Amino acid sequence: MAEPSQGQLDTVMQERRVFPPSEEFAQRARIGSPAAYEELYARAKTDPASFWAELARAELHWFEPFRTALEWKEPFARWFVGGTTNVSYNCLDIHLEGPRRNKAALIWEGEPGDQRTLTYQQLHREVCLFANVLKNLGVKRGDVVSIYMPMVPELAIAMLACARIGAIHSVIFAGFSSEAIADRNNDAQAKVQLTADGGWRRGKILPLKETVDAALEKSPSVQKCVVLRRVGDVQEVSMREGRDYWWDELTAQAEAECPAEPLDSETPLFILYTSGSTGKPKGIMHTSAGYNLFAKKTFEWVFDRREEDVFWCTADCGWITGHSYIVYGPRSAGATAPMHEGAPNWPAEDRFWELVEKHRVNVLYTAPTAIRAFIKWGDHHVEKHDLSSLRLLGTVGEGINPEAWMWYHHKIGGGRCPIVDTWWQTETGGIMMSPLPGAIPTKPGSCTKPLPGVLPRIVDEEGREVDPNHGGWLVMAHPWPGMLRGIWGDEERFREVYWSKVPGHYLAGDNARRDSDGYYWIMGRIDDVINVSGHRLSTIEVESALVSHPNVAEAAAVGRPDELKGQAISVFVTLRNAEPNDALRDALRAHARQEIGALAVPDDIRFAAVLPKTRSGKIMRRLLRDIAAGKEAVGQDTTTLEDFSVLAALRSDEES
Ligand code: WT7
Repeated sequence: MAEPSQGQLDTVMQERRVFPPSEEFAQRARIGSPAAYEELYARAKTDPASFWAELARAELHWFEPFRTALEWKEPFARWFVGGTTNVSYNCLDIHLEGPRRNKAALIWEGEPGDQRTLTYQQLHREVCLFANVLKNLGVKRGDVVSIYMPMVPELAIAMLACARIGAIHSVIFAGFSSEAIADRNNDAQAKVQLTADGGWRRGKILPLKETVDAALEKSPSVQKCVVLRRVGDVQEVSMREGRDYWWDELTAQAEAECPAEPLDSETPLFILYTSGSTGKPKGIMHTSAGYNLFAKKTFEWVFDRREEDVFWCTADCGWITGHSYIVYGPRSAGATAPMHEGAPNWPAEDRFWELVEKHRVNVLYTAPTAIRAFIKWGDHHVEKHDLSSLRLLGTVGEGINPEAWMWYHHKIGGGRCPIVDTWWQTETGGIMMSPLPGAIPTKPGSCTKPLPGVLPRIVDEEGREVDPNHGGWLVMAHPWPGMLRGIWGDEERFREVYWSKVPGHYLAGDNARRDSDGYYWIMGRIDDVINVSGHRLSTIEVESALVSHPNVAEAAAVGRPDELKGQAISVFVTLRNAEPNDALRDALRAHARQEIGALAVPDDIRFAAVLPKTRSGKIMRRLLRDIAAGKEAVGQDTTTLEDFSVLAALRSDEES
């Protein structure tokens, strides 16, 4: 596993600026001083299970109260044992009695300009209708429903409808290929597929149904497919008799009454696939009560929830950020959360600022990769709009470069909004480390401190805690309610990946350091996972996709620094029965797109005569990373075959 480089350490150690929240912000904040945070943190740390149990009793609705806060038999945690609850009930029904009933729950902005607002009451009705649609299709508790949809309200409705009846959703980001959908459907043994006739992206139509049709040819467990009309006449789709149904037709026949089912606390809520360090994506499994509580409380703490806020998370529901901070967190906290379909630069590069102004957004949660794009597009797009409604800003997905942080702070936040840099993972279910904005002074580039009830440590390979300012592995010393409960169908991999390296601790897979003020700085992954625009991709996944092309003998993929995406994908390939040329390069790009999806298309493809290897036969990834980053001069003509053997010989002792 890679150690953090001196360069990584230097960059983060040079940052000395500190930004406390304004007095005005702190005064109104839920947690408004360092002392209040320390007090809460210390209380939680003494007895994390009791701390969470107290919150669970107060914050969730229980049909049947739980008996035990936590049963922990490493690596298996069971939270709130013996209780029954329902996540959809906690997101909807609990708001129906009081004044929130007619509050906007979801404000949707579709790409072509269509809009829809659903109050809590209306959302509840739609969820009940669709839950009955699922039941009528034969979906039962524990069945897996695969969701491949654009960012439309029906996507959130479908997720909540699954939760209502105890079905498990598996949302697949709508940029994935039919191959990727089929892999996920087969792994999860999905029974029903939900999709749309198409989705909008930069004025073009994504042919979602066509992609699903190809996927379903290869996913025999899927018996039924429900298709939402989204693009209508513009895209003809074929409907297979007995398998495919129109969403609106089924909904029209469904009953509106659908009481939420009391479900055991540990009922699986969803599976979400993410890349690991091998080619096969991991089906991260989350369950009901613990995840629900964690999404709700982290949302309230980190985003300093106020009843009247408009909270906009710009993620897609195909990722964990959308699950926790568009659908479940804000909904259980009774918040108003917009949902946006389309790209940040369509119809123009001021799309986000137009929406912030229009909806008077108070809290904005986005990704560093988006911020870097905004900087590139120019300040004039921002300056055209009134952003004075904003009071708090957030980022997620990767570390934020201090320059981008400063730009976000000044240009978007007008210098008055705290920035919460939130560190977490698909596996953690919710935010683990982040400033509490009224309490913790921020430092650009640091996710600052753990949330109450979260116990991180930084250790060396022997599991010993390292001194301040030393890099090491980030681990968690105690289970938390939102933690993954397993990898779907693969207990061995679950143990191996997260629990085998440091006994008694969850291994996050990131390098980090803690400074002498107790602030955490994330320094990148310890495995072969790269982070492209805030999305995880394993280099082996990309390599396997390329090697499945008939002209590729061998492939090595590495990440290289990229100004906009954070990391770009660089691949080195050796060929068989083919000559290197641009046409082949295009064909390989198209092949990667087809095998995984647009997010896996390599940014550079370089042909090599042989790949550099160590004496033990391992590909010299560090050398390739340096070459990809331009640190080693090799042939610049990118279509010629490169010979790395000399460089490899020079470096082989160092790498092996
Ligand atoms: C990996 C998790 C959590 C939702 C989005 C990504 C990196 C995430 C930060 C941050 C530095 C970060 C880590 C982590 N990461 N947030 N604030 N600072 N790095 O979820 O796809 O599960 O990826 O993203 O490397 O392990 P994910």
